[in-house]
Amino acid sequence: MTALPDLNMAKHTVASIFAVLEEGSKKEYLGEDISQLEHSLQTAQQARDAQADDETVIAALLHDIGQFCDRQAAMDIMAEASDLQDKTESTSTVKVGVKGHEYIGGQYLRKLGFSENVAQLVEAHVVAKRYLTATDRAYYDGLSSASKASLKYQGGPFSEDQVKEFERDPLFRKKVQLRLWDDKAKVVGLDLPGLASYKDTIIGHLLKEPLQQ
Ligand SMILES: [Fe+2]
Repeated sequence: MTALPDLNMAKHTVASIFAVLEEGSKKEYLGEDISQLEHSLQTAQQARDAQADDETVIAALLHDIGQFCDRQAAMDIMAEASDLQDKTESTSTVKVGVKGHEYIGGQYLRKLGFSENVAQLVEAHVVAKRYLTATDRAYYDGLSSASKASLKYQGGPFSEDQVKEFERDPLFRKKVQLRLWDDKAKVVGLDLPGLASYKDTIIGHLLKEPLQQ
């Protein structure tokens, strides 16, 4: 028999996730004049405006959680992923955390009981960028110089075969869409509904997901 989380457990998970995101309100988003929390809320609001399903809205809200989830959790995840560790140049936690943040975020959310779809959407930042830079010249031209530089160590634009393979992914359109919302979510001074407005959606999602054994 598959166990499902109870309401108290789901509320506890939401409280801990929100605490992590609130912490992000103190950090600026990649040199922009907005905080990480504002960036997360703007990404999620675009998903809501597009009437995306709950998993996509949740993934949009939590897509950068790997950048600022607690360091011990991030280190544990990296220690478990020796293949990803091999690709990093440094043992510095901060550097490793930033480099693999999409991977850390996906694993972190799986461990907390979020669905595989949410985890995969969160993990898709880099692959969606590699896809878009291979298929949309204007997208590539619009990237900042820092983002163009980071693309090189992220593997560069996808090859033709990689593009075809990615397009077979059932979550392909959602992954690309989330990346486009992410890219636009850096508007200064937007007044949007806060984290509390996502609480019921996340609790409802967690209550449907079986606990990992
Ligand atoms: Fe982001």
